[in-house]
Amino acid sequence: MNKQATLEARKRLLGRNLSVAYHDPVKIVRGEMQYLYDDEGRRYLDAYNNVAHVGHCHPRVVAAGAEQMRTLNTNTRYLNDLIIRYAEQLTATLPDPLRVCYFVNSGSEANELALRLARTHTNARDMIVLDLAYHGNTTTLIDLSPYKHDGPGGKGAPSWVHKVAWDNEQHVVEAVARLKTEGKDLCGFIAESMPSVAGQIVLPKDYLEKAYAAVRDAGGVCIADEVQTGYGRIGTHFWAFEHYGVVPDIVVLGKPIGNGHPIGAVITTPEIAHSFDNGMEFFSTFGGNTVSCAIGLTVLQVVQEEKLQAHALEVGNHLIEGLRELHQHHEIIHEVRGSGLFIGVELVRNGQPATSEAGAIVNRMREKGILLGTDGPDHNVLKIRPPMPFSHADADFLLGVLGRAIE
Ligand SMILES: Cc1ncc(COP(=O)(O)O)c(C=O)c1O
Repeated sequence: MNKQATLEARKRLLGRNLSVAYHDPVKIVRGEMQYLYDDEGRRYLDAYNNVAHVGHCHPRVVAAGAEQMRTLNTNTRYLNDLIIRYAEQLTATLPDPLRVCYFVNSGSEANELALRLARTHTNARDMIVLDLAYHGNTTTLIDLSPYKHDGPGGKGAPSWVHKVAWDNEQHVVEAVARLKTEGKDLCGFIAESMPSVAGQIVLPKDYLEKAYAAVRDAGGVCIADEVQTGYGRIGTHFWAFEHYGVVPDIVVLGKPIGNGHPIGAVITTPEIAHSFDNGMEFFSTFGGNTVSCAIGLTVLQVVQEEKLQAHALEVGNHLIEGLRELHQHHEIIHEVRGSGLFIGVELVRNGQPATSEAGAIVNRMREKGILLGTDGPDHNVLKIRPPMPFSHADADFLLGVLGRAIE
């Protein structure tokens, strides 16, 4: 089908609220590391898709998946060493006491399970969540995601969800105190360690430490959603919560851990896992299947063996430096923020979010062969979070094209 025919068929056959990126949509037919190729053979530099963490179609990951598909693909009710090796190597990247894994099939499923673990452990229901957060697409997670329930089509927060701002940890302390006054028990606090959908935000350095302390004081548990920020993306640390010197009670993983194969994971403490083991079986038909584990294990090994965290730090620093240079020359750049290859460039014009300009820049970049996106409540933050093999030369190319697009 030509591009127009594909677009029309999509409108006819798929739900209309699946959005398509760019005014002139891209029809991608092939991927290779940090590059994507369209139906006419044109190459795009992918500066946006964090799911293809170790690179689109990384040969080792493809080979591991194909080999395991030829051998066996079955569920967790049979003994198999792959899931054990994967859990062992995954937990080895995490601090004590985060030692018990559950495998599911998406970030949403992982957050749902995290919530169940927290509720079973605390016997409470109320959650504190960061404003503008997104944690997944299920009914409960839309309730827990201000980005959705406060946005178009949303119906606001239900009474068990308490939204706090992320500029100062006092908001969490106050929310905890308010719940206490109202006689409500606190189940927990969930936060992306660096809020992404909110516009690539780095929280104040002591935010999580003080928030976690207040939440735990009230009997709640602390959930770190590392779906976008984990696996070395921020460069300085393997997990973004480590940037703040905290240890969560539950860690939620998704997107990058399967490099595009649908894998989600929840990792928690033996104590919380013990509470959850209350007689009700936990089972996911596909979660932790042998093919997923072979792929997940290989992705983790590639991240480590190819030293992608150190690479993200080095290239990310270079890119951030270049973006700060652009900041000096272009008034529309209000702030450059982030860490490693998790970067946001906020655009503001005449004191207002430069939403249409951000959209125009992203579309211009796409015309010039670079894929970026926007985020934040006003969609005025350029979101840069490429596959991790993104190179120095790619960063220089992006900086050159971005400078001209802004002009
Ligand atoms: C921070 C965060 N948590 C959870 C999810 C949900 O993951 P999934 O789309 O795999 O269900 C997302 C997806 O964008 C996310 O960004």
